[in-house]
Amino acid sequence: MRKKIVAGNWKMNKTLQEGIDLAIEINKLAVEKADNDVDIIIAPPFIHLTEVGKVIDREHVSLSSQNCASEQQGAFTGEVSAEMLWSAGVDYVIIGHSERRAYYQEDNDILNKKIKLALDNNLKIIFCCGENLEQREANKHFEVIKKQLTETVFTLIKEDFDSIILAYEPIWAIGTGKTATPEQAQEIHKFIRSLISEKFGNDIAQETTILYGGSCKPANAKQLFVNPDVDGGLIGGAALKAEDFIDIVNSFK
Ligand code: PGA
Repeated sequence: MRKKIVAGNWKMNKTLQEGIDLAIEINKLAVEKADNDVDIIIAPPFIHLTEVGKVIDREHVSLSSQNCASEQQGAFTGEVSAEMLWSAGVDYVIIGHSERRAYYQEDNDILNKKIKLALDNNLKIIFCCGENLEQREANKHFEVIKKQLTETVFTLIKEDFDSIILAYEPIWAIGTGKTATPEQAQEIHKFIRSLISEKFGNDIAQETTILYGGSCKPANAKQLFVNPDVDGGLIGGAALKAEDFIDIVNSFK
């Protein structure tokens, strides 16, 4: 059966000490009271990763970065490579987040380079897709998501797709307090699973974890996670409070 996962994307929040404190608190609650059937991942900023890695118990909490470079190494000032992340003990990398696509002009070519380097360096990938409000209102969301996946992760071979977790994140729901309804989330997740099935076969489709992201919080996580094709969440704002984050982890029951 596919894994249930709740991942916290801290974005550009928390000083180093605040980040360490948050990780300690999340780890404590994860060990003491989190649903053991759910994998927990936290994605702090780059500069926090090594220190956060020291205070979490990897049996309970895994570590992700929010990004990686699209080049292997060399003269790329300010970038952090997939190999560096791997060498720092990072397990996952988020690729294709809408904020990276919109603010840092990351197109599919760049995303594909990142995907390849992440896989070459043994990182698992949380790959994001999702439509904006205009696309949804024009009823183009299915088409947009299909194109985003077809031009990126669907170019992989079956064996590599094993390392991919997908996250459906409607842009109009990210950080806006406006969540997709459980019906809207299920509809898209089911559609994404059918696309995986068409591409890689039903076994792989059934094994792939598909997360929902966009204003997911303790108050709405249960209604979202109860849907058969929603396998967990990628959490932004609500991942910055340990209690809220673990409440979301425990929303499957
Ligand atoms: P949000 O962010 O939960 O703050 O809406 C989700 C995300 O962008 O991953």
